[in-house]
Amino acid sequence: MTGLKEFTKREELLETEEIVERIAAAKAALGDKVLILGHHYQRDEVFRFADFSGDSFKLARDAAEQRGAKYVVFCGVHFMAESADILTADDQVVILPDIKAGCSMADMANLDQVLDCWEDLEERVGGTIIPVTYMNSTAAIKAFCGDHGGIVCTSSNAKTVYKWAFERGERILFLPDEHLGRNTGHQMGITDAEMCLWDPKEEGGNCTTEDLVRSKVILWRGFCSVHMTFKPQHVDMMRERYPGVVVIAHPECTSAVVAKSDFVGSTELIIKQVQASPPGTVFAVGTEHHLVNRLNEQLPDHTILPLSPFACNCATMWRIDPINVMEVLEGLVEGKIINQVSVPKEVADSALVALNRMLENA
Ligand code: 13P
Ligand code: SF4
Repeated sequence: MTGLKEFTKREELLETEEIVERIAAAKAALGDKVLILGHHYQRDEVFRFADFSGDSFKLARDAAEQRGAKYVVFCGVHFMAESADILTADDQVVILPDIKAGCSMADMANLDQVLDCWEDLEERVGGTIIPVTYMNSTAAIKAFCGDHGGIVCTSSNAKTVYKWAFERGERILFLPDEHLGRNTGHQMGITDAEMCLWDPKEEGGNCTTEDLVRSKVILWRGFCSVHMTFKPQHVDMMRERYPGVVVIAHPECTSAVVAKSDFVGSTELIIKQVQASPPGTVFAVGTEHHLVNRLNEQLPDHTILPLSPFACNCATMWRIDPINVMEVLEGLVEGKIINQVSVPKEVADSALVALNRMLENA
């Protein structure tokens, strides 16, 4: 019964102005000691408190550059907080307001699976393979890339990173998002016949040696469940319903959706594209709907619609609510660190190699 009461109290608090006032007061008390970073997919009630907002690339840069703040409160998901911890100074503390805010895509590649894959590729393919991991991966996978001549990329810079990798090796092993990997391959003129799909749940990745040998890019079978909800039929439907609509897809969407879209780009590029368009433009955007709805509100002269009426939340981004932001900030005011994300030094050192290659080259 007490549990239910506490739950009700929490829900009630979420609806009140009190929480806004308490966050603002804690932030003011902490002053320059705290920096709040907010990813574009965060709910408005949290996003409004961000000192810096951005896509995962911009936030990684912001985290690396802001050395003055003792505490970095990352309103995003776990892999982003890990990267921030790796990129910030040793005496800075990174906090994820809800420690359970993970990413299902990042969890689709674990280190044991990647080591098995690597061993198999070395045996069956040989030559130089450059591992490239999307930012949306665990620190352990980034460390693997750092230790094996590889690099990290984000959806903003994947093409530049592919060029970097092909200057150094014959093939890329792309982790963990099949779709960003495939879409980037297409942008580089690499055909589907020159890419194959490694399924970590199947023996030998379910790839024949011929598949692997002919491939310039070996894609990991991983995906974002949010972006997978968009289908080519949604593009057709929006074009029929809104003649002249401009369709923009995030590169985590399937290549079938991207092929039918007018533009493809990271969340930061989507924002730039929309802001640069003439008033009256109608957009259908294939990405998480908090960003789409926020853009629609911020730009009243434009109409910015989700590409699909069934677009879903990123459930883990959603886990960060104003109450846990308030709790971690008030904790800091009292000298208590709640939900610190700390990557072990040996993992962080190797992951930093791969992250720095990205920051220096892309
Ligand atoms: P970007 O922030 O790189 O656009 O990626 C979107 C995403 O899925 C973050 O998890
Ligand atoms: Fe992960 Fe997709 Fe959510 Fe991004 S939107 S955090 S890739 S589940």
